[in-house]
Amino acid sequence: MSDQREHVVFGGTSGIAMAWCRLEAEKGAAFRLVGRSGERLEAAAADLLARGASSCHTHQADLACTEEIDAVLETLPHTRPSVVLLAHGLLGDQAEIEQRPALALELLRLNLDCSIYLLLRITPWLEEKGCRRLVVLGSVAGDRGRAENSVYGASKAGLEAFCSGLAARLEAGGVKLLFVKAGPVRTAMTAHLDLGPAAIESKGFARRLQRALRSQRVFVYIPRRWGLIFLVLRHLPFRVFLRLFPARQARTSASDG
Ligand SMILES: NC(=O)c1ccc[n+]([C@@H]2O[C@H](COP(=O)([O-])OP(=O)(O)OC[C@H]3O[C@@H](n4cnc5c(N)ncnc54)[C@H](OP(=O)(O)O)[C@@H]3O)[C@@H](O)[C@H]2O)c1
Repeated sequence: MSDQREHVVFGGTSGIAMAWCRLEAEKGAAFRLVGRSGERLEAAAADLLARGASSCHTHQADLACTEEIDAVLETLPHTRPSVVLLAHGLLGDQAEIEQRPALALELLRLNLDCSIYLLLRITPWLEEKGCRRLVVLGSVAGDRGRAENSVYGASKAGLEAFCSGLAARLEAGGVKLLFVKAGPVRTAMTAHLDLGPAAIESKGFARRLQRALRSQRVFVYIPRRWGLIFLVLRHLPFRVFLRLFPARQARTSASDG
């Protein structure tokens, strides 16, 4: 068995995760990618090996299913993790969710419930193996609920609250958590949206993530400007906030009359 530490990525096919993994592969890093599609994981592994990764193993699991999380973790106990990255998630379609509220439960199950379950399950392993850094991808959407993505925002706000407590718990065990509040990034998740000029490419995001990993910070905004923007947005009175981010229905009635 190799003695090299490995980056373990949950949601190994994510656009953001892959951009970061590619930068790490160029430095000869080793990987374990966990995801739901064997075919997409294999393609991701081939990409990383071609860029210089020293090894890349893939593990198939639906991360919205606790039994599959348990099963995949059974295959990892001897792995010595370097960085562990949680990059799986669903954005969901708010209009569709409002038509079929059961979809909200699916989103919350993956983004929040099962992510907390996964984090609780891996905590002893991270401490025992001396993991260098645990990275969880959150979102600026968790900073203040908007009509356009309130369920997604709630899932990220809940994850952040959990990670705030987990960070304290992990520090005591010698593991540092990094919770990233990401602004819009151009990936498959956002390909159907008009993100405007504020969005960044996944490669630029990955470079910023590498820098954040060299710091000792626990909560970071990427890009950093979102920290300042949300400092203001979080404190705006509700009516002012509503004028800036009107709900779809409000826009319809305004045009009606
Ligand atoms: N892009 C943005 O603007 C943005 C902004 C803020 C935060 N984030 C967060 O950053 C993270 C990565 O997003 P991204 O932009 O890289 O999106 P992405 O490319 O769409 O990646 C999402 C990942 O989640 C995986 N996934 C979805 N359902 C799953 C399930 N049931 N079991 C296992 N894996 C599952 C997908 O796997 P498949 O390949 O099988 O679909 C994919 O690897 C997410 O947590 C997202 O919420 C993104």
